[in-house]
Amino acid sequence: QQILVNDTFYPNKESAFIHVEDRGYQFGDGVYEVIRVYNGRVFKSFEHIQRLYRSANEISLSIPFSQNDMMSRLEELVNRSGLGTGNIYLQISRGAAPRTHAFPSTVESVFVAYCNVKERPEEMLSNGIKTITTEDIRWLRCDIKSLNLLGAVLANQQAHASDCYEAILHRDGIVTECSASNLFIVKEGTIFTHPANFFILNGITRQLILELAVKNGIKIIERPFTLEELFNAEEVFASSTTIEVMPVIQIDNTIIGKGKPGQLTKKLQELFSQAIS
Ligand code: PDD
Repeated sequence: QQILVNDTFYPNKESAFIHVEDRGYQFGDGVYEVIRVYNGRVFKSFEHIQRLYRSANEISLSIPFSQNDMMSRLEELVNRSGLGTGNIYLQISRGAAPRTHAFPSTVESVFVAYCNVKERPEEMLSNGIKTITTEDIRWLRCDIKSLNLLGAVLANQQAHASDCYEAILHRDGIVTECSASNLFIVKEGTIFTHPANFFILNGITRQLILELAVKNGIKIIERPFTLEELFNAEEVFASSTTIEVMPVIQIDNTIIGKGKPGQLTKKLQELFSQAIS
């Protein structure tokens, strides 16, 4: 395994170190990305890098190298790691400095990236996942892919404690997204998903699904929907870099679409598979 810290490659996690006063560690003061690699090719790298720089900009963190540089670093990381299919995790924190809430006057950001081998979740993709619903207790800038993930961690843990894979989040009965993925429902042949605003992360997979739907004449509308609409949906699916187009077959005690992935969900899975090959 190769661990990239700033400009240096380390041969394993044990040899790479982060300062105890790193602001990412102490405050969650930083941003991150998870990028998929299929057969050695970095998927949607441009989109992920663009979102990373946007997230960084929204928290006034300047990344000391260009987006092109970032792209080359990630490609070198994948090559050195000899990664076929898996994930790249990368984060950039504001850096290490004596602990004060406000930005320190001198601090240099710390960039970390590494890869993990991870095959596509084939079984879940064909059978679908079970989910729970829970209140969205996260902050009001969910559009930023911030290292602060406690709201997501607690929701996801709640799902796992109930033997479920994901937690569907809602604010006062309006469904936003899931703990680590976006959410879509199908009603009378039309797909609905929450608009990209401060309440959700505008997923790269979500954007690809919108694009694929439009190109293939599938009706898709970005508008908020309620928990009631969710429970009465014909089909429900979640999306992310790691779970792709994932059928949801159960929400709390409600079975969705006879407990099997729906037609439109399967169609989008097919289009997604074509897009990555
Ligand atoms: N999660 N919404 C949230 C809150 C997320 O954390 C993610 C991704 C998504 C989907 O975004 P994308 O399609 O760009 O992966 C939506 C990543 C995979 C994670 O934190 O592991």
